[in-house]
Amino acid sequence: MPTSNPLLLSPAPSQCSLEMMTHHYGDVYEHSPWVAESAWQQGLTEVHDTPDALAELMGLMLQQASSEQQIKVIQAHPDLAGKAALAGELTQDSTSEQAGAGLDQCSPEEFSRFEALNAAYKKKFGFPFVIAVKGLDRHAILAAFEERLNNDAVTERQTAIQQIIRIARFRLRARAEQ
Ligand code: GUN
Repeated sequence: MPTSNPLLLSPAPSQCSLEMMTHHYGDVYEHSPWVAESAWQQGLTEVHDTPDALAELMGLMLQQASSEQQIKVIQAHPDLAGKAALAGELTQDSTSEQAGAGLDQCSPEEFSRFEALNAAYKKKFGFPFVIAVKGLDRHAILAAFEERLNNDAVTERQTAIQQIIRIARFRLRARAEQ
């Protein structure tokens, strides 16, 4: 039986110069092109031409970064259902992720709830609440939001980093499917 080809990224990361890597994959992590550049510095081979393999290596770069660098990446994310989203000021990926979870359809009460939670969360942790929203609706997101507000700072930084790595994997998969 013929096996199906795995989805491949185009351009192939293994064929990219550093400049091409930054150009094509620098935006996979929100406003943080250094993650793609660090992955390139590791030496990319054909193994890394699938979305999941590149996502794994990029994720490792973020896991290995200092807590200060990790916090900067978290801080590069916009609020969910926040003012920037309402004003149409998000990156293309962020706009479609938030719309995909129906966050642009919130009732005025739901927007107020997000506003209050965003403020409480940022006051406690110093960075915005980030969650991979694919497959979640706004009710599930609000429930996770309230639960994660109870975490301690270290747990919450690690949770946010895991969610950001998940978001990057979805972004890379979506690009390979185009
Ligand atoms: N999860 C998926 N996309 C986003 C985003 O743009 N911002 C936040 N805070 N979480 C997300």
